[in-house]
Amino acid sequence: MSQDAAKRKAAEAALKYLVPGEVLGVGTGSTVNHFIDLLAGRRADVPAAVSSSEASTVRLKAAGIPVVDLNSAGTLSIYVDGADESDPHLRLIKGGGGALTREKIVAAASRRFVCIADESKLVPVLGKFPLPVETIPMARSYVARELTKLGGIPRLREGFTTDNGNVILDVGGLSITDPVKLETEINQLAGVVCVGLFARRPADVLILGAPAGVRELKAV
Ligand code: 5RP
Repeated sequence: MSQDAAKRKAAEAALKYLVPGEVLGVGTGSTVNHFIDLLAGRRADVPAAVSSSEASTVRLKAAGIPVVDLNSAGTLSIYVDGADESDPHLRLIKGGGGALTREKIVAAASRRFVCIADESKLVPVLGKFPLPVETIPMARSYVARELTKLGGIPRLREGFTTDNGNVILDVGGLSITDPVKLETEINQLAGVVCVGLFARRPADVLILGAPAGVRELKAV
């Protein structure tokens, strides 16, 4: 089974978490793209969605799902999004697609966060995937120096601007044994908009697509 087929299986399994009649939050990425395509067949159950990126907004509208502003939606019952890595406690690295800030906002505003991924995303310790840090452009060099002091090797994502007009530093060389502490430390750096560690608010459910089928992990 290809990685893409595994992503599709995870997206299919997430449909059971839809709360019919309620607005849902939708993340960003190739796994979520499968989920959005599947939502086209569930339009009757989905009055609208809050989107975490311009790319997902375009795809949701093409699927016939109205997109509404988070400020008018209130607390969402469910948020569905992918991840670049998850540890067994469902703490995540996200932001490979650059949408981490809006993703973190929508996740925070949701009662249940359902994460969908192929099984390769489950790791014992976070950090092999370079940690994305969205940064105000004028703070880029300062933040990079501070991230180096924390043990990382930051690299500017060349030619990329986020939906919020900022840059991304991808930080390699980390073995993240205390994700909550590192998330808090990086959040404190002046000029950081958002770090792609989702540890203070991890996923509630992780659906992993694999050749043997779909596996679900729940936060304990
Ligand atoms: C985007 C993200 C994505 O969820 C993450 O990059 C996973 O993407 P994919 O589903 O394409 O593997 O965090 O900012």
